[in-house]
Amino acid sequence: MAKIELVPERLMYPRPTLLVGSNVDGKANFMAVGGGGVANGEPPMIAVLIRHHCYTLKGVLQNMTFSVNTPSVDLVKEADYCGITTGAKVDKVKVCQFDVFYGHLKTAPLIEQCPVNLECKVVHVLNLGSHAFIIGEVKGTYVSDDCMTDGKPDAKKIRPIIFNLETSEYFAFGEVIAKAHSIGRELKTRE
Ligand SMILES: Cc1cc2nc3c(=O)[nH]c(=O)nc-3n(C[C@H](O)[C@H](O)[C@H](O)COP(=O)(O)O)c2cc1C
Repeated sequence: MAKIELVPERLMYPRPTLLVGSNVDGKANFMAVGGGGVANGEPPMIAVLIRHHCYTLKGVLQNMTFSVNTPSVDLVKEADYCGITTGAKVDKVKVCQFDVFYGHLKTAPLIEQCPVNLECKVVHVLNLGSHAFIIGEVKGTYVSDDCMTDGKPDAKKIRPIIFNLETSEYFAFGEVIAKAHSIGRELKTRE
């Protein structure tokens, strides 16, 4: 199989579409983030990559708290809007008609309409170049009750949006293809 070498890139699939929130000068603001992922197990930590010019970053550093909200596919218009406008100029909460609530931290704004909400306390800020790499400890996790199955969050009901940076497209979550921690056992016969 022939391989084509590209310029060094952060090519990883899939990328989430998240709405990262902070209170800037006491007012909630949200930005779209595709550069986000898990950072640690216990204690639970997640990481987000934010360009230095983003208005949201100002609020993250003011309070040392932020939120990570997972929009469902129904919110794709709002999620995209939060990624193409800045809170320095528009009130995104008003335009998107988000209902904002707060958890334990009191300064990390959470979006009621998003099925999954994490409130985070900043534990590390690394300046990596184009972006600030923010690691947050998750201090509160909220899931809409209609997105739970047998007491567990169910991605099939959450219906997250997958972001493809290279083609600027949003995808819906795909179908279940196999049972995790299990399908690989079939290769044990080759050991
Ligand atoms: C789908 C999508 C993903 C994005 N991912 C990131 C990201 O990971 N990091 C980042 O700094 N900006 C990202 N952006 C751009 C910001 O959301 C954008 O600059 C936004 O206007 C910042 O808003 P703010 O100035 O109110 O903070 C993304 C935009 C879109 C549409």
